Amino acid sequence: MNSGEQILGSIRPRPEVVPGLKLPPLKQAVRIRRDIWKLEEQQEWHPVTRAYAEAIRIMKARQDTDPTSLAYQAGIHGHAQTDQWLNTCQHRSWYFLPWHRMYLYWFELICRAAIKSSPNVDDKTKSNWALPYWNYDRGTPTNTIPPAFRAETTPDGDPNPLFVPGRLMNDGSAMPDGPEGVTTPTAALAKHHFTGGDAGPANTGGFGGPQTGFHHGGGINGALENVPHNTVHGEVGGFMWAFDTAGLDPIFWLHHCNIDRLWEVWDRQTNPSRENPTDAAWTTNQVFHFRNTSGADVTQTSGGVVDTKNQLSYVYDQFSGPVFKIPFIPIFKIPRLPIPPRPEGFADMTEEPPADRPVELAGATEEPVRLSGDTVETQISLGGATAFRDASAEPDRVYLNVEQVTAEGPVGTNYSVYVNIPDDDETTEDNYHVGHVSLFGAAEASDPESDHQEGLRFVFDITDLYRALKESGAWDESRLKVTLKPVRRRTSDGAAFTGAESPQLPAASIGRVSVFYQ
Ligand code: C2O
Repeated sequence: MNSGEQILGSIRPRPEVVPGLKLPPLKQAVRIRRDIWKLEEQQEWHPVTRAYAEAIRIMKARQDTDPTSLAYQAGIHGHAQTDQWLNTCQHRSWYFLPWHRMYLYWFELICRAAIKSSPNVDDKTKSNWALPYWNYDRGTPTNTIPPAFRAETTPDGDPNPLFVPGRLMNDGSAMPDGPEGVTTPTAALAKHHFTGGDAGPANTGGFGGPQTGFHHGGGINGALENVPHNTVHGEVGGFMWAFDTAGLDPIFWLHHCNIDRLWEVWDRQTNPSRENPTDAAWTTNQVFHFRNTSGADVTQTSGGVVDTKNQLSYVYDQFSGPVFKIPFIPIFKIPRLPIPPRPEGFADMTEEPPADRPVELAGATEEPVRLSGDTVETQISLGGATAFRDASAEPDRVYLNVEQVTAEGPVGTNYSVYVNIPDDDETTEDNYHVGHVSLFGAAEASDPESDHQEGLRFVFDITDLYRALKESGAWDESRLKVTLKPVRRRTSDGAAFTGAESPQLPAASIGRVSVFYQ
């Protein structure tokens, strides 16, 4: 094998198709999904990118009612009208990853059929085209949208099907990366468990989301869904801010391809080995509907999509995640003041569920917190958890919950969440960073007309920070300070920050910020 171009071999695909329908050809070559930035670095407007633009052009020209049109495909994700195919995307659920894998699979087949039919694509590209992925976590420029998606015209001077007006990142701005950035899957990959179990104030969502039934809306995220999935939706902006329109942006599919790749990266980790759910509720009982290249109804289940090579005939060109090691530092050895930078992934060393210990509310804000796109600060007085009144009773775990996050319209602003940033030294704020709140999906979870109006909930396990603060005497039960700072992109030369986002963002708010002890 000499290059990533090579077809890996022929295998027999096993997509689950409704009996009676024409099956895909029995022999299907395994395709390789590649990194868009590597392709574009080789050659701007790489043949793979051009072919994708051609597929999108063809799909846009189709009638909205044609299941193979871009409009219909986007409608499967979110749409005002509902039938069994439309408006079915799974969010804040353990079906989030498999559902989007299926969604990409059928979309990619539809793209490929369009590419095959086009006289404008060369034969080699036709023979091995696969959807590329956008890995935004390899430093600048990978954390910007590739120029081929931002140019208003193609190299031939035609309108560029990959361009979408209204994205916040069409100016070439770069998403913050690095340990506290919005592009990094480090914290997600460090999760040991696929699902965070049943909902509850101590459920952090695991890697892949909480156990739910068919679930289109609010609640808590799995870690990968929160960062980088939701945060990248938020930074890109435009169509990417709403379920109903996200699939209309060609970059959406490359973003999800990367999320799909990261699931594979997670799955390949060892020590401890990571396992996908094996419950029938996940593997077989929940059936999802899609449309194939001829527009016919096809169904799939999560258990049918866990092996991309053998079940779906595709692989990724590489599976490396961010390079990180979780050093073993016993919790009682956390050094005293000043709080050292916490090693990446450290917070998750302690993520294993504690023994059956009651979860108790220690304190909460009393008023909703408005999110206007600026920094907000709120304070919580603790001491409400009766089991921990006695100073010798230390909680095993401390959770910060940001609850009932709602929005009046599509908005994807991302906030970095901090606990107890010192008033006199903001330069060390990264040490107090506990995670991100992204408003992507908040509007959908707030719609009184819909079935998902609980708002979004974010649960951060802040146990390690709690212990470090406690050691250094900076944990004050009467005054816990929580700060939310909007994430700001940089210009692509890395220096300046872009200004505030549009001043007329839809109103958004947090119902309550609370702290639970366990
Ligand atoms: Cu179903 Cu990135 O969204």
